[in-house]
Amino acid sequence: MPGTRLLSGVQFMNITIVGTGYVGLVTGTCFAEGGHRVVCVDCDAEKVKILQAGGVPIYEPGLAELVKKNADASRLSFTTSTKEGVDKSDVIFIAVPTPPLPDGSVDLSFIEGVARDIAGAMTSYKIVVDKSTVPVKTGAKVVETIKRYCKAKVEFDVVSNPEFLREGFAVEDFMRPDRVVIGVSSPRPVPAMQEVFAPYNAPVIVTDINSAELIKHAANSFLALKISYINAISIICEATGANVQEVANGIGMDARIGRRFLDAGLGFGGSCFPKDLSAFIKISEQLGCDFRLLKEVQRINAEQMERFVRKIADTLWVLKEKKIGVLGLAFKQNTDDVRMSPAIDLCYRLQKEGALLRVHDPKAIEKAKAVLKDVTFVADMNAVADGCDALVVATEWPEFKKLDLERARKAMTHPILFDGRNLFDPKEMERLGFIYKSIGR
Ligand code: UGA
Repeated sequence: MPGTRLLSGVQFMNITIVGTGYVGLVTGTCFAEGGHRVVCVDCDAEKVKILQAGGVPIYEPGLAELVKKNADASRLSFTTSTKEGVDKSDVIFIAVPTPPLPDGSVDLSFIEGVARDIAGAMTSYKIVVDKSTVPVKTGAKVVETIKRYCKAKVEFDVVSNPEFLREGFAVEDFMRPDRVVIGVSSPRPVPAMQEVFAPYNAPVIVTDINSAELIKHAANSFLALKISYINAISIICEATGANVQEVANGIGMDARIGRRFLDAGLGFGGSCFPKDLSAFIKISEQLGCDFRLLKEVQRINAEQMERFVRKIADTLWVLKEKKIGVLGLAFKQNTDDVRMSPAIDLCYRLQKEGALLRVHDPKAIEKAKAVLKDVTFVADMNAVADGCDALVVATEWPEFKKLDLERARKAMTHPILFDGRNLFDPKEMERLGFIYKSIGR
């Protein structure tokens, strides 16, 4: 496998990433940052044009700087041609969407399409790596597809390399991963894959493809389970006057449990957990196993939102024509992504009850405009409260902690704050004169 050893000791590899979404673009950019030479391919010509001109179509902390740095150093380039990507590289990553179908199963048509394109372009040995989240046994299908559509008689290996980065922390997570999982069906691609990940100094787990694919679904389902668990505990806390944050701290200090992903709130959203849970339940069903535990995780998540809306309605009584300020639209902090955002879901529910919304997000307003109609978008977070009957915190943006609460209290018709992310201190809010309701406290 060609590649030149750099002074740092890293052997740089020629890598292509097909798909420049949140995962693909971060992966390609961070591979280039590690010293590799990377081609990013996307069928969306508009997106490629933006990237070629030095722009970045998504918000992800630190990403724009790294794209520029690596493009300037000629380690990172963009094209719409899969053929060009395949010709230029030895290792080709697939990082395309695997969206949900109406029955909860996964639409694998993008994966199949890319596998066909890669197969059609292959003229020498290639390692084809699936990074997209896929159902167990997809790797075997990719092997079959490449065999079927490869015109030249060339050898290849298919590898599964699930991604664990979080949006909003993607660059950090990629550069310093807890582990790298490499699923293979033979030892042949392993040395090259180890070179690909050499710059990141992470433990590498080499396993079979089915296990690698399962690790991803099992990991995301477990994290979602942790969130639903603490949300269920938050209900017990509210009923007893206990504090869910104290409970999370207390159980989280047990190293077997861990404090992370134990923040109670409006429940999980985003393009991964909800979709991956449904997919894993469906996969299990197809394998003859009713994964009721995960169905309960979904139920708790849905109920958490309903309980919050009820809490607002119980306090304000009639929501019709009440002015409500919503802080946060993204599905979590540090991102402009509003896909499956609990904050957007909350807006829809409040609108359905007739509430009039003034909304703000530090990064997601532009993307929210496509999905949220008949609301007032407010650019300044401190102006959201103006004339409102209540304020709601829907996303855990740390900047909301700097909200001018004095000003908000004076600007509101009634100083009521519903904190769906437990950002504020209940005692302090009371001292400031707010009627303050949060989750599990
Ligand atoms: C998730 C996983 O954390 C990543 O490891 C994985 O790579 C990614 O899915 C994926 O499959 O691509 P992501 O969806 O970007 O990452 O965001 P998370 O940080 O996991 O948050 C997901 C949701 O859970 C958010 O709505 C967040 O607000 C919520 N959450 C998270 C909580 O309600 N409480 C918590 O304690 C943590």
